[in-house]
Amino acid sequence: MPSKLVDPINGCFAPVTQAQSQILTALWRFPMSSRIPKSFIDDVVNRVDIVELIDERVPLKKAGRDYIACCPFHEEKTPSFSVSPIKQFYYCFGCGAHGSVVGFLMDYGHLEFVEAIEELARRAGMEVPREVSEFGAKTDLKALYTVLNSTADFFSRQLREHEAATRASNYLKSRGMIGQTAKRFHLGYAPPGWNNLTTQLSRGPYSQKTLIQAGLLIDKDQGRSYDRFRDRITFPIRNRRGQVIGFGARSLGDEKPKYLNSPETSVFHKGKELYGLFEAQAANRTLKKLFVVEGYMDVVSLFQEGVTNAVATLGTAATQEHMLRLFRTTPNIIFCFDGDKAGRRAAWRALETLLPVLKDGWVASFMFLPDGEDPDSIAMTKGGQHFLQIAKDSVNLSTFLFDTLEAQVDLNSLEGRARLVDLARPLLTTLTAQAFKNLALQKLVQISGMESTELARIMGGEERVFRPKMAVHDRETRKSRKPSLVRTAMSLVLYQPSLGTLVSDTKQLKDLDMPGVELLVGLLDLLKSNPTMSTGAIIESFRSHKYGKHIAKLATESPPVLEEGLEREVTDAIQKLEAMVWDRRLEVLMAKAKTDKLDDAEEEEFKRLLQRPSDGIDT
Ligand code: GTP
Ligand code: MN
Repeated sequence: MPSKLVDPINGCFAPVTQAQSQILTALWRFPMSSRIPKSFIDDVVNRVDIVELIDERVPLKKAGRDYIACCPFHEEKTPSFSVSPIKQFYYCFGCGAHGSVVGFLMDYGHLEFVEAIEELARRAGMEVPREVSEFGAKTDLKALYTVLNSTADFFSRQLREHEAATRASNYLKSRGMIGQTAKRFHLGYAPPGWNNLTTQLSRGPYSQKTLIQAGLLIDKDQGRSYDRFRDRITFPIRNRRGQVIGFGARSLGDEKPKYLNSPETSVFHKGKELYGLFEAQAANRTLKKLFVVEGYMDVVSLFQEGVTNAVATLGTAATQEHMLRLFRTTPNIIFCFDGDKAGRRAAWRALETLLPVLKDGWVASFMFLPDGEDPDSIAMTKGGQHFLQIAKDSVNLSTFLFDTLEAQVDLNSLEGRARLVDLARPLLTTLTAQAFKNLALQKLVQISGMESTELARIMGGEERVFRPKMAVHDRETRKSRKPSLVRTAMSLVLYQPSLGTLVSDTKQLKDLDMPGVELLVGLLDLLKSNPTMSTGAIIESFRSHKYGKHIAKLATESPPVLEEGLEREVTDAIQKLEAMVWDRRLEVLMAKAKTDKLDDAEEEEFKRLLQRPSDGIDT
């Protein structure tokens, strides 16, 4: 990875920090997607018509070549949401929402990437193929789900039947848990011993290998393996379909570790899963809001006491994937933390994780519990109502953000206010939610007393943020700043992908050491092998790419020339780029000729380059 990453498209190569790039990568890399072959995704995206798909959910009206409607992603009275049948792409001029059929299903239908692909495949009457997993061998996912479900049943039976289970059920009772709750969450008991699962399950249809792949057995060498969970209360972790994908397991006493989790497997990803989400969705027809708490017991105890909408991460801090999953489930999320220092720190970390992925319309708030309490202790000693009462004091995201920053500075001094701006900067620059960003900057203007234009400059020159309608002189300076050739070429090809096939050879371009060239070449090569791809399909193909988000954004732009001039514009841009390659090569050869002798091939090349007709390069 180059030490200084550059944004290959926007602003003609404004620097992108390593952190920003990592966020982009994390956000656009959906690990599951790698298991559905890319060619299948291209195919299915090409087969489903975006106009039909959206029209079924948001009735569209024809307007010229495109279709329009009131935007489903923000409140409005006049339509600014447009769908292009040619590009297979939607775009809202009001809020900037944009994407392909996949993006639409994810954002409108609150689906995960894989779910969106599955939905499209169903529509197109296709079966989703799965590729070889990271284990190297083909993992039979169905077998994993089956063995995990059987294991949950087995553990649950042991909680009632095993001779050593009295201790376990007494333990649960001592924590106030009733049988109905244990049943609801399918809690169980993993008995003591090293090979309960092998003797109980692998005699049946489950091979030892499957049990290992499911994370239930620990693989020792020479084909021997033993039970991972022993003498512990088991909490099955279920996916949204209710399938068991892993376990959390608590020791009955002081044995360490207190909780033991399943390892990462092909069906279990700690950084994505939320404990209790399935149970919350099963218990509530619609989830108006969700509480995010820390532990298994918190979720279960709250549920028992009537708060049936709490979920927990699996012993890790919430990741961006968690955030996306949470807010796709419901736009109202309350993060619950201890009131002590560690709790505040954890809350701040959640805020930092959330900001870059936050979308306008998402409502995040933070609640803090009295010192020494956790949701479980409150629910069990004071009841669910008491917990909800504390939740009423939760603070919203911006309040938490500014209160925390203000507490670190002295607002009465100029230095303090400057420091506040300094502290806010790295946070606010990660924001992509424009409306929220505007409001946050306005608030910062109020607090700091700094002028908005000055503040905008400090925040990275995003004057647009403050003036959505650009002043005339601004518009002109913007226009006069010519976009780079690479950017122009990409934007044209995204506007009308068939143009990409005009470029017969990208070999020359590859040598050009310019930011964005690699991306352009990738785009052109993609089109060469799939000449009929729509813009929407291209976007999907770049979803997991480091700059996938940039490509999607670029696709929302209209090219600077009229329809008739498009072809020429593309070939011109490519020719100019190729000419630059040759010019640079010529310089290299000339420099060498001065100090050294050119070999025959170089001599030949040199002559050819000199005889090249001039093509009016104006750079
Ligand atoms: P109880 O003591 O059963 O009430 O658990 P808790 O939920 O109050 O535990 P705690 O606040 O200590 O931890 C919250 C969450 O962190 C747990 O639900 C686990 O997911 C995780 N956790 C706690 N201890 C461990 C541990 O020793 N190992 C791992 N991997 N995770 C842990
Ligand atoms: Mn606890």
